[in-house]
Amino acid sequence: MKKRGIKYVVKKGNQFYPSEELKKIANITDPKIYTQAAKDPIKFWGDLAKEGLTWSKDWDKTYEEKLPYFKWFKGGKLNFSVNCVDRHLAHPEKTALIWVPEPKDEKPIKISYGELHNKINKFANVLKTNGIKKGDVVSIYLPMIPQALIAMLACTRIGAIHSVVFSAFASDALKARIQDGKAKILITSDGYYRRGKPENLLKKAKKAAKRTTVQKIIVVNRIGKKVRGRKFLDFDDELEKAESYCKPEMMNSEDTMFLLYTSGTTGKPKGVVHDTGGYATQAYWTCKWNFDLHPEDVMWCTADIGWVTGHTYAMYGPLLTGATTLVYEGGPDFPNPGRWWKIIQDHKVNVFYTAPTAVRMFMKIKQNWITKYDLSSLKILGTVGEPIDKKSWMWYFKTIGGSRCPIIDTWWQTETGGTLINTIPGIGPFVPTVSGKSFPGIKHVIVDDKGKPMPKGRQGFLAQTSPFAPGMLHGVFNNHKKYVDTYWKKFKTMYDTSDGAYLQDGLIRITGRTDDVMKVAGHRLATAEVENAIHDNRKVGDVAVVPMPDKMRGQVPIAFVVLKRGKPGKKLEQKLRKYVDIKIGPTARPARIFFVPDLPKTRSGKIMRRILKALLINEKPEGLMTLVNPTSVDKIKNIITENS
Ligand code: PRX
Repeated sequence: MKKRGIKYVVKKGNQFYPSEELKKIANITDPKIYTQAAKDPIKFWGDLAKEGLTWSKDWDKTYEEKLPYFKWFKGGKLNFSVNCVDRHLAHPEKTALIWVPEPKDEKPIKISYGELHNKINKFANVLKTNGIKKGDVVSIYLPMIPQALIAMLACTRIGAIHSVVFSAFASDALKARIQDGKAKILITSDGYYRRGKPENLLKKAKKAAKRTTVQKIIVVNRIGKKVRGRKFLDFDDELEKAESYCKPEMMNSEDTMFLLYTSGTTGKPKGVVHDTGGYATQAYWTCKWNFDLHPEDVMWCTADIGWVTGHTYAMYGPLLTGATTLVYEGGPDFPNPGRWWKIIQDHKVNVFYTAPTAVRMFMKIKQNWITKYDLSSLKILGTVGEPIDKKSWMWYFKTIGGSRCPIIDTWWQTETGGTLINTIPGIGPFVPTVSGKSFPGIKHVIVDDKGKPMPKGRQGFLAQTSPFAPGMLHGVFNNHKKYVDTYWKKFKTMYDTSDGAYLQDGLIRITGRTDDVMKVAGHRLATAEVENAIHDNRKVGDVAVVPMPDKMRGQVPIAFVVLKRGKPGKKLEQKLRKYVDIKIGPTARPARIFFVPDLPKTRSGKIMRRILKALLINEKPEGLMTLVNPTSVDKIKNIITENS
């Protein structure tokens, strides 16, 4: 008999609230926290940082602001790996990580805090032996395997800056990130398993590292490929040989801990800089309050470590709170669509965090693949990455949560380091499609393009006001101008999120990006990045990429190409789509490419993507007066109709 599970929500009127059972166990339940924090947010964060983390030296100043930069806990010292692991060693046998490999004939592995400590120390020594010092950048190009976590934490132990690159990204994308960070070491694996097949990762890694600053490539043996050459080191061999203790490097709170590249409005991804103390504070408290994570809980965040969600909620947040994190290597539906749900049953997952795109995928399958599993261990369900529609929300709530678990719709960004807008489980309410309130001690406003507050309920730009959240980015790596232009140009004294939003009964509802950034299956991509990749092909004269709404993936890129040479047709379309795979990765592959004679442009040569977007969704395009070539619009419209 399947267990029913505790009911963590109750319905009051049209809304869901935490039940008495949830309130009894929740880390925070008093809504007064919002007003208390707002009275003195700097003191509030100072108190949280002290209570939540272990510091080796107190800070002199809690917050200092010289816009566009700001500092948290200035003068304070701490080590991040000590906070994630060493301080939980009173119970060394406690499981830190459950790793589930994709192949069914391989057994899941549990790594205790004690073992993790040992491996991190050893790998930190491996890095040191290979010349890595505090402040050096280490590139990590790994799949979802325990060594990824070990490598990342080992970097933080010695104060090296990690730069993790999504393993499905192409060689060129990795190379650009290695070059920007001037990484000395690249940590990768020979491959990984995806949908039953071993994928070769090393080939891409080798190609990317050529003619860069990379001196050594440390390779995890995952699929049994032999690696030879002076440049290569075997991850496990090196670990075996290393000394078992590495003294943690005490870092300034403000020292950079990691870089993570993300897409903006230009073709070149930017290195978002995250610091140590502020990031750790936010990762810790958002895990504790937003996911109501307790040390005895198992949290499974399905995001890949190549994305910020993977950093903060698949790795760091759960460890900072002393809980257990679950990491799964492979495809969600391998060998069958029941895989994820069986994992929740087998490992008694309490907090499950995924993206709307995954929810939409599972809504479509035979529901028995889900309902046959016991999901009664679940307490909190989270969603992130794109707006979730009501139908998907309700399905997630009923089918996965058994109408028992709150859904926490977390809004945040690579730049914010941790979740910033959502409902807190112990407080509520849980409203479909609505994210909720800003985290206590943080304030967002909805404004017009001049920064003036919008009337209540009207859609506007979402901006954050001072004091800025501790987990916020501390710049764009080696690019002050880009930092200023992207986040501070529009509102000067407020952080520009580039998202649209409106207030619904005092809660924030996110409407999506207001710039040329797409969210494809939850993955962030600039239209310009895809355009650049296509443009590189010698047959292409001009190109514009726009997102089109998609039932499954949220948005998909659609390309409009003007050819310089060659013949338009299915064959060339396939070729160009493959080309994007090679340049960026399959995530960025356009769903369709339309070959057109001309692109709608203004007198100054700006492509009017807005018009292309309207044509794709069969809306009447506006602003044709500003075009130098208004006749292009009808021609494109006909091509879309004929080829759809
Ligand atoms: O547009 C917002 C959307 O994702 C963007 C940030 O993407 P990325 O840096 O890849 O980080 C994703 C995971 C933190 C935002 O600017 N977004 C994120 N969460 C939500 C969301 N849109 C609506 N609802 C959300 N909960």
